[in-house]
Amino acid sequence: MSPPPKKSVKSLAMEAALLREQIARHDILYHQQDAPEISDADYDSLRRRLEEIEKILPPENSLFSPSQTVGAKPAAAFAKVRHRVPMLSLGNAFSGEDVADFVDRIRKFLNLSAAENLEILAEPKIDGLSCSLRYENGKLVQAATRGDGEEGEDVTANIMTVSDIPKTLQGSAPDILEVRGEIYMTRADFDALNAAQAAAEDKIFANPRNAAAGSLRQLDPTITARRPLKFFGYALGETSAPLAETQDGIRRALAQLGFNVPQPAATVQDAAELMAFHENVYGQRPDIPYDLDGIVYKVNDLDFQRRLGFISRAPRWSIAHKFPAEQAETVLENIEIQVSRTGTLTPVAHLKPVNVGGVIVSRATLHNQDEIARKDVRIGDHVIVQRAGDVIPQIVRSLPEKRSANSTPFAFPQTCPACQRPALRIEDEAATRCTGGLLCPAQAVERLKHFVSRLAFDIEGLGDKIIREFYDEEIVRLPADIFRLAAHAEALKTREGWGDLSVSNLMAAIEARRSIALDRFIYALGIRQVGQATAKKLALHYETLPRLRTDMQAAMDGDSAAFLNLIAIDDIGPAVARDIVSFFNDPQQMAAVDDLCAELDIQPYVRLQTSESPVTGKTVVFTGKLARLGREEAKAQAEALGAKVAGSVSKNTDYLVAGEDAGSKMKKAAELGVMVLSEDDWLALIGAA
Ligand code: IVH
Repeated sequence: MSPPPKKSVKSLAMEAALLREQIARHDILYHQQDAPEISDADYDSLRRRLEEIEKILPPENSLFSPSQTVGAKPAAAFAKVRHRVPMLSLGNAFSGEDVADFVDRIRKFLNLSAAENLEILAEPKIDGLSCSLRYENGKLVQAATRGDGEEGEDVTANIMTVSDIPKTLQGSAPDILEVRGEIYMTRADFDALNAAQAAAEDKIFANPRNAAAGSLRQLDPTITARRPLKFFGYALGETSAPLAETQDGIRRALAQLGFNVPQPAATVQDAAELMAFHENVYGQRPDIPYDLDGIVYKVNDLDFQRRLGFISRAPRWSIAHKFPAEQAETVLENIEIQVSRTGTLTPVAHLKPVNVGGVIVSRATLHNQDEIARKDVRIGDHVIVQRAGDVIPQIVRSLPEKRSANSTPFAFPQTCPACQRPALRIEDEAATRCTGGLLCPAQAVERLKHFVSRLAFDIEGLGDKIIREFYDEEIVRLPADIFRLAAHAEALKTREGWGDLSVSNLMAAIEARRSIALDRFIYALGIRQVGQATAKKLALHYETLPRLRTDMQAAMDGDSAAFLNLIAIDDIGPAVARDIVSFFNDPQQMAAVDDLCAELDIQPYVRLQTSESPVTGKTVVFTGKLARLGREEAKAQAEALGAKVAGSVSKNTDYLVAGEDAGSKMKKAAELGVMVLSEDDWLALIGAA
């Protein structure tokens, strides 16, 4: 008898197609809907059958198979999610003094008398990555990473695979509830994962935090499902009804809803008790199965939290008190001089790789010439390196006793290593700077990288490596060239690893940014000392780019009204002001800005607070001792109502709010005819009397 006829290739291909469909459906049921319909064993046999068939079929048949992608077909990229309530970061405290300052600052802001209590909750800071989970009517509907704090990535499918995150809340909860917390991995799970990765000759993770981040940011949720991720809840985003009146109450409510919350926690009354708690948990660290990088302190009363509000990206009512730095000894193999975006020559230490508290360190900053001289660090030296939390590793000192006899001090270069132009050190400054400006390739490339970065133009698809290549190939030399990339579209499609889709995605990402808010634009220019917060202040104050430019040109004269106006903006001191003014008076920079303006539509800055108030758009100065509000609270409240708060009186000032013992500002206001209000007048004006 002849054997039964073998299935034809065609019918095998059809069976494979059917299997793929079934597997994809079960992947979604299991990982995204938490509602499997078949047993794991049955699922495995579907996959095995598919793999068998694919071994027989010609390879092009398996290209889009789940057996290649392991699980549901991956999305091309994560969708973006706008956070309805921004996800903030925290300021840091490193010493007892910082902690005492934090408590004093809060007491002062809230105008608390010595007799009034201030409760502060302390809990561990988990070293993972933050995530926001949105529940509607008790069901988990969306999960997002932090991203830039305003917009994160949709990782819902991945989060559905994390077993200690409730998919349905226990008990009753507000209709809308966003729970924020940390995704992390225990040290034991991390070790096991790395062992498995090593066995499979796969990527080894440097520490549990990186492993957790890498596992969460998988386009394929079935990979995440196999990674041992865990979650602690510690804060709320949007809620349709209050959950509690205190931070401690939030912890208790979260626990009741089915979340793990960071342990141990304590509610204390003063800085000394915070320090004691910090020390105690630090001592317990080896016994805690996951990494902590400090203690987070939070004002317990939510009403106080609301009054305290935020400073740029961090709440006033909370701070992260970091654990002391970890140290290790290694060898300094070389000192490389890097050229920054603004031309600063920064020495970077290349180290023999060493494990410093769980992170392999092979680079450290040496800051500047003086730092190298002061520490007398030489190439070849044995050195002590340290790292604390997420800060860049540093060299603490060298060990001269281990030095060879022929070692010589490091000679700091006097020319730029990237463009060979002279590098100068300006008197009174620590930095040595390349004089090449945008003609220096290193500065130009760093500027471009900054320009497209997340908080600036945020152009996806233009990573550091591509920017460097485009620069070297003279496709992009100045920021405006990015907006002329369409002319190279056909050529780009022929680059290795590129195709129609990647080019059209890149073009779409660029086109989407032709219209840009003024604050982002200013930040993207990469002006020395102008970060996101300062860029926002400039945008708010000057409103349009032409006005900013004319004023900065007028401000060349340090005695001009324009310069005085600039330094009257809160937090812009003379040094920052000089950097801003010199940027806008540099012909090379202005040519690059003109070039950009021809490509872009720059939108006036729109502040988050949209409601009109009697002081919206007015410039206010506070002086003297206010009785009802702390000075900082008064300023914060005015800004929240749309007013600009300035540090000194000028002809642009609308109101001077004068408390007790107001001094020279009163005189200035009288001279300029600026309206002076008492604290009560001010409160009546803003409707808070
Ligand atoms: S509270 C508005 N509590 O630390 C304040 N954050 O450095 C929200 N983190 O972005 C944060 N453990 O990712 C808070 N117990 C804890 C935390 C914690 C870890 C992270 C969080 C935050 C970052 C700030």
